Amino acid sequence: MTDIERFITDMPKCELHVHLEGTLEPEMKFALAQRNQISLAHGSVAELRASYDFTDLPSFLGIYYDGMRVLLKELDFYDLTYAYLAKAASQNIRYAEMFFDPQAHTARGVSFDTVIRGIRRAQLDAETRLGVRTQLIMCFLRDWSAEFAMATLLEALPYKEWIIGVGLDSDEKNNPPIKFRDVFARAREERFLLTMHCDVDQENSTRHIRQCLDEIDVARIDHGVNVLEDPVLIEAVRSRAIGLTVCPISNGYVTDSTKSAEIAKFLELGIRVTVNSDDPAYFGAYLTENLLRVQEEVHLDRAALTQLVRNSFEIAWLPRRTKDAYLAELASYTA
Ligand code: ADE
Ligand code: ZN
Repeated sequence: MTDIERFITDMPKCELHVHLEGTLEPEMKFALAQRNQISLAHGSVAELRASYDFTDLPSFLGIYYDGMRVLLKELDFYDLTYAYLAKAASQNIRYAEMFFDPQAHTARGVSFDTVIRGIRRAQLDAETRLGVRTQLIMCFLRDWSAEFAMATLLEALPYKEWIIGVGLDSDEKNNPPIKFRDVFARAREERFLLTMHCDVDQENSTRHIRQCLDEIDVARIDHGVNVLEDPVLIEAVRSRAIGLTVCPISNGYVTDSTKSAEIAKFLELGIRVTVNSDDPAYFGAYLTENLLRVQEEVHLDRAALTQLVRNSFEIAWLPRRTKDAYLAELASYTA
């Protein structure tokens, strides 16, 4: 391992864009399928992995939702979450904000309570046993109706203390942010923090980013790389200190590149860009591998790599003093 690879590997890190359902490794998929007596289309882990050849967002999402069929019981959600957090701890991730997609489960007849209790119990166990602190972000599926999203928001209210914010994910085509204006307005009233996916190189990417900023007033944008196409958006994101949670290896699967050069450009512009993993079990890369890839592609030095991780702790949805404690840990690592 080179010095810079060692520097990345050992760094205290922060992950802000990871879908829990996207951490379902093929081995666990098989184990849960067996436990729940569900038949899978593939006969082996190798065969299943070989089927992961996505070329765009919809082709990824089809496989992602199909994989979720094995998640039925509270223990399944516990095992999924705990396994991700053990992996995160092994990569020196000190803090993570994790997305979950309740509608992908409630639509299959799995109750909201089952999903969130399993996740929550794993979060608490991981914090005490592994020292990884986490918070949850509930995503609405943008290719379903605004009414279903609103009903899900209302269903989540009894569990409000367990959810820091809400997001928007799934297929962006013909599903603009404003479709969910009322849902996000209500979420704001309920004191949830707000973020939304603006996936990379979508039809109308810049229009969707503009809606996020002007109509929804998000605190962060998930992905958001296409900000660079419009000087007005660049200035808005910079001056409002909006964080961008970029996922390079995911980008490499669903677009023409990892967008590492764009990440370097955001750093140069003083925009709070961060590196994240998105769906690590499907893209075969957790946070460390994503940082390594960007470094390899655009040769970031230690200062730039440190800035990426500092940005993550800065834009994390944590109290100031907690962020400062993580930033101090990072500073003492890099000193
Ligand atoms: N759900 C899980 N991963 C996603 C992504 N990268 N974009 C949109 N929805 C998602
Ligand atoms: Zn995502």
